[in-house]
Amino acid sequence: MPVDTIMWEGGIDGKIKLIDQTLLPGEFKYIYCEDLPCIWQAIRELKVRGAPAIGIAAAMAVVVGIRNTNTGSLNGFFKKLKEVTSYIRTSRPTAVNLFWALERMERVAEEIVGARCNVPVQGIKERLLREAITIYEEDKDICRRIGKNGAALLKNNCRVLTHCNAGGLATADYGTALGVIFAAKEQDKKVRVYVDETRPLLQGSRLTAWELVQAGIETTLICDNMAASVMKEGKIDCVIVGADRIAANGDAANKIGTYGVSILAKEHGIPFYVAAPISTFDLRIPSGNEIPIEQRNAKEVTEPFGCRIAPEEGLNVYNPAFDVTPAKYIEAIITEKGVILHPDKEKIRLLLEKK
Ligand code: MRU
Repeated sequence: MPVDTIMWEGGIDGKIKLIDQTLLPGEFKYIYCEDLPCIWQAIRELKVRGAPAIGIAAAMAVVVGIRNTNTGSLNGFFKKLKEVTSYIRTSRPTAVNLFWALERMERVAEEIVGARCNVPVQGIKERLLREAITIYEEDKDICRRIGKNGAALLKNNCRVLTHCNAGGLATADYGTALGVIFAAKEQDKKVRVYVDETRPLLQGSRLTAWELVQAGIETTLICDNMAASVMKEGKIDCVIVGADRIAANGDAANKIGTYGVSILAKEHGIPFYVAAPISTFDLRIPSGNEIPIEQRNAKEVTEPFGCRIAPEEGLNVYNPAFDVTPAKYIEAIITEKGVILHPDKEKIRLLLEKK
């Protein structure tokens, strides 16, 4: 069941409307961002999260960041654009979709100026708004194509394990990993899903379980440390997760804990699938070793959701938000352009070059 995660309301003077995901599942509430610090913080604090949704938010952030630039000069405008995109780049480091969207917005602005002389600054602003909305609209279509391509891999009555949230809440509205499950259901296949709760911020229990239950899919919530025995008990037929950045060789960064799940899947002979759009590939990075991993506040671990669960003092905390699954553990990467079985550098290059 699609969910309207993030959207633009109005014209160039409009606002970004997004679900505050930190409140889910207790409260379903839209918030509005009309300036740059507001959307920067929404990304930083995971009010909007998940790689494709972060990309959409970043594109819309460019619009709120540049629309009040008073300068009539192109030089002044481009200086401001650079300042705005540099600032948005500091919000979160791992999901490459954020950087991809910013580069796309910068390219569009440069292209219109390159193509015509005397472009009014207002015209560039309007064009950037249209591009941000296009990125959002495209994501809807991309997720449905990922869903359709991935659903072909799921048998009727299969039992899927997923980690974190790669659903509608992580995209414009439909999801990547969950998109595969939704598409299989739309094809009248019965799919049951085991959801890792996903410590420390519980995107699995708070967001994925919420989405799946609303969609009428049989869902079983497990703590992260139960995945091994659930697999050993023969309850899982495949794993499907999303990704935040996929290196040229197929190594894929996703929410912390995904790497462990991939090793467990390998040990138990269970196929491990990654579902992600082409915008999640970063061919500039040869392997997962070069993927920047976000380090987050210790309080997420010691004081989740305001409840202290560790000693106040004398404690070190390590809180990386992502880990990298080596390509050798990935059975296939499911994209909108097709499925890459046993991904490697050459297969990825060929698929990405495909028109
Ligand atoms: O820290 P988050 O909640 O932004 O992490 C999200 C994930 O790891 C998702 O699995 C990933 O972005 C894929 S979303 C389709």
